Amino acid sequence: MRVLRTQVGIVGAGPAGLLLGHLLHLNGIDSVIVENRSRDYVIDRVRAGVLEQGTVDLLIAMGVGERLQREGLRHDGLYISFRGNRHHIDMAELTGGKAITVYGQNEVVKDLIDARIATTRPLYFEAEDVSVGALESSSPVIRFRHGGADHEIRCDFLAGCDGFHGVCRPSIPERAIATYERIYPFGWLGILAEAAPSSTELVYTCHERGFALFSMRSPTITRLYLQVPPDEPIENWPDEAIWDEMLARMTTSDGWKPRVGRIVQKSVTPMRSFVAAPMRHGRLFLAGDSAHIVPPTGAKGLNLAASDVLVLARALKAYYEDRSTGWLDEYSDVCLRRVWKAQRFSWWMTTTLHRAPDESAFDHQRQLADLDYLTGSRAAMTSLAEQYVGLPAEVSFESAGL
Ligand code: FAD
Ligand code: DHB
Repeated sequence: MRVLRTQVGIVGAGPAGLLLGHLLHLNGIDSVIVENRSRDYVIDRVRAGVLEQGTVDLLIAMGVGERLQREGLRHDGLYISFRGNRHHIDMAELTGGKAITVYGQNEVVKDLIDARIATTRPLYFEAEDVSVGALESSSPVIRFRHGGADHEIRCDFLAGCDGFHGVCRPSIPERAIATYERIYPFGWLGILAEAAPSSTELVYTCHERGFALFSMRSPTITRLYLQVPPDEPIENWPDEAIWDEMLARMTTSDGWKPRVGRIVQKSVTPMRSFVAAPMRHGRLFLAGDSAHIVPPTGAKGLNLAASDVLVLARALKAYYEDRSTGWLDEYSDVCLRRVWKAQRFSWWMTTTLHRAPDESAFDHQRQLADLDYLTGSRAAMTSLAEQYVGLPAEVSFESAGL
């Protein structure tokens, strides 16, 4: 068996694990990252696309924002569409100049993997049978098989950055962790299409036939989503049926509609809200989707992963500087304040824009009144805008060594 030692053992090379590894590197703290999928799988996985202002600022401050600044699409506003009309919300004007940036999660992950490899610190892909142990001791471990050999990494701390279906959260004794969950009676069918975006900003649509979302990845690629039943087989949706439904839901009275093109990727994702608390057990710290999931309306998941690891990096930096444990002890509480606000926002965006299968005629009229109020009140639009671009960071970049 190969035994290695490091300061921080990180399980998962998604945005949370890779960001944490790089923040620690910038502070001279050693880490080992262990990922069970291949490098190509991790890079090709199509997921989020919307970065909050604070996430963009963080990536730039970390020195990994060069391609993001060149290729990312800055959006100062967005549209909310209902009853066949699009209503513009000028986020930058309402928030003193803040915006979001469209840049695929897979591009963020690619940039972070390149940065990790340049540091020459260890990153294992295709690790098998990954497990964590000795969480309550001063030397927790990660065990896995790689290249036919058993490995054990002995660490000072573990970071569980292995997503919702990972091994870290289930390794915490049930009595030590509370979970909060809400499952929604719908999912999103998402596609990538070879079509130039027909709008420069996102369009969130509440239609009689259900929710639809217009987004993009680049000047030549459109990204679209449709509300469907949560367990909908993708085989039920030939490309023509997808376009018919997209156009039926999204075309507005002024004739605006998405441009049609060849569909290059399609999949269905169920939607849930989930929080595990506290986000720590012994020397294991959970970050990102391993601790919490939001429904994608509102685009908060990736951004929450980034804000968690900033708080964790601050705490680990302080520990290695002077052995202080105060910020490690506060980690979960500090993160959960932001997590619950993002949960509330994502739940609100989701329930305000989707059609619930069991809704009454009253519910639907109230929903339309909500949207009418939202798009007619500067106060309501300001509330949406300040949450959409991202609430202020809980901790400063300086405190995390940037
Ligand atoms: P993950 O990205 O899930 O990474 C976890 C990593 O751990 C993975 O690489 C996984 O392979 C690895 N892993 C799992 N198990 C193990 C194991 N046993 N051993 C080792 N490694 C393991 N968020 C936004 O902010 N904006 C959006 O616009 C947005 N849109 C979305 C659209 C869709 C369709 C979906 C599905 C999600 C969207 N999200 C969005 C959410 C966002 O993608 C996630 O919140 C984000 O990926 C969380 O990052 P993470 O690093 O915590 O987890
Ligand atoms: C995208 C995803 C979201 O969840 C969202 O709210 C907006 C855009 C996207 O993938 O582009």
